[in-house]
Amino acid sequence: MSDNAPPKPRVYILDDEIVTVRRLVQALAKDGYEVEGFISAGEAMPRIAEHPPEVLVTDVRLTDADGMEILQRVTMLAPQTKVILMTGYAAVDHAVQAMKAGAFHYLAKPFKLEELRNTISDALRYSGKSAPDLTDPGPVDRFAGIIGNSPAMQEIFKTIRQIAPLNCNVLIQGESGTGKELVAKALHSTSGRGQHPFIPFNCGAFSEELVANELFGHEKGAFTGAVSTKLGLLEAANGGTVFLDEVGEMPIPMQIKLLRVIQERTLLRVGGVAPVSINVRLIAATNRDIEKMIAAGEFRQDLFYRLKVVMINIPPLRKRQEDIPLLVEHFVTLIATQFGKPVPEIGADFLAALSSYTFPGNVRELQNIVERAVALSREPVLTGSDLPPDIFFAEIQPPVPEKNTSHLKVLEQEHITDVYRRTGFNQTKTARLLGISRTTLWRRLKELNLFSEK
Ligand SMILES: Nc1ncnc2c1ncn2[C@@H]1O[C@H](COP(=O)(O)OP(=O)(O)OP(=O)(O)O)[C@@H](O)[C@H]1O
Ligand SMILES: [Mg+2]
Repeated sequence: MSDNAPPKPRVYILDDEIVTVRRLVQALAKDGYEVEGFISAGEAMPRIAEHPPEVLVTDVRLTDADGMEILQRVTMLAPQTKVILMTGYAAVDHAVQAMKAGAFHYLAKPFKLEELRNTISDALRYSGKSAPDLTDPGPVDRFAGIIGNSPAMQEIFKTIRQIAPLNCNVLIQGESGTGKELVAKALHSTSGRGQHPFIPFNCGAFSEELVANELFGHEKGAFTGAVSTKLGLLEAANGGTVFLDEVGEMPIPMQIKLLRVIQERTLLRVGGVAPVSINVRLIAATNRDIEKMIAAGEFRQDLFYRLKVVMINIPPLRKRQEDIPLLVEHFVTLIATQFGKPVPEIGADFLAALSSYTFPGNVRELQNIVERAVALSREPVLTGSDLPPDIFFAEIQPPVPEKNTSHLKVLEQEHITDVYRRTGFNQTKTARLLGISRTTLWRRLKELNLFSEK
């Protein structure tokens, strides 16, 4: 922070539930407040007297004091401090009384983090101060494990910061390996849901029946073999986030069911009759052009609109080459440390070759290339010779067929190469798309002499 930056507004949190204190302290500290947490009035009061906060957020029922008492003591000790009360449903009357006695506002539990943020901003404005500017934390080259200093990534960090605390559905679009899951995790971990589960679900990996069973769960006896009730992911993630990966692959009948769940915030377990209400945030991801799929009747437009309340587009790595040096440095350090090797230096030709490569497999491919280089290199500096030869070409060329290789074989090789590249060098996906086993794929890739993932 520069010398003339204004001091951070000070906020104290007082609640006897330690989890609440921790959650609020973490969230507000991230917003740029100077935050301290206390679990009893006895602990908080001396600190308030010594260093009064701009805002005190306190529960109305503590083991050693109630809202009225806290308010009276704070008014005496620190008359400038604005008090925001948090109340359980049963204590609303009490809070109204406290408001009359001078509390700034009260929030009924459970409340959204966003409501608290707004109330704190209001309190600060009321005292002629302003909340930290959440939209402009200055340039950072990493955010919640995502690396990138390109303008495109800066914009993504800003969007994540703005929308993480909101409960809105988010659709993340980007080619394979661009970091969609990483962005989804960042949204989860910086929202108020961080302590609850983050559950990824691959919508393309299962048949329609299995998708329903996985997402919605089933009642005991719903079908042969359903010996007990099973919670689906949407219920199991209660309070957290469900990441619907490859949402474009979701079978149409399931899309209709999912739409209903989003609209009603309830679901029916397979074989169930009573709707169960759910509390999850949905983040979906796709590497396909959903708008084209809608035009082709392969994806429901109504679901698309429900999912993309906010849309995050992650550009392919070749369109944000500024990120390459930082990513290389990050992966070299990370991987060498994981391997227990000394961290090698990055040679100029190593970086130059990578900087001019197009990365059809995006960041995942970059990570694989660095992993291979770090694993094989025995020198203290990584050089161009640590890179696979095909990195020097913009596109992988299938090897020139031998004289007696049949035309069909060549076509097949080209097709495998193409699919492999389009999936971002992901063997599992390539095998699935080609309808062959991973072992067969592995054999074919070896024949083709293609650099493989692992
Ligand atoms: N900006 C980034 N900073 C650091 N690591 C990244 C970044 N982007 C991607 N990665 C890493 O690259 C790998 C691929 O990322 P991720 O799985 O999130 O991509 P994806 O878009 O979900 O890919 P796919 O479409 O194949 O599922 C992961 O190991 C992830 O940690
Ligand atoms: Mg993914």
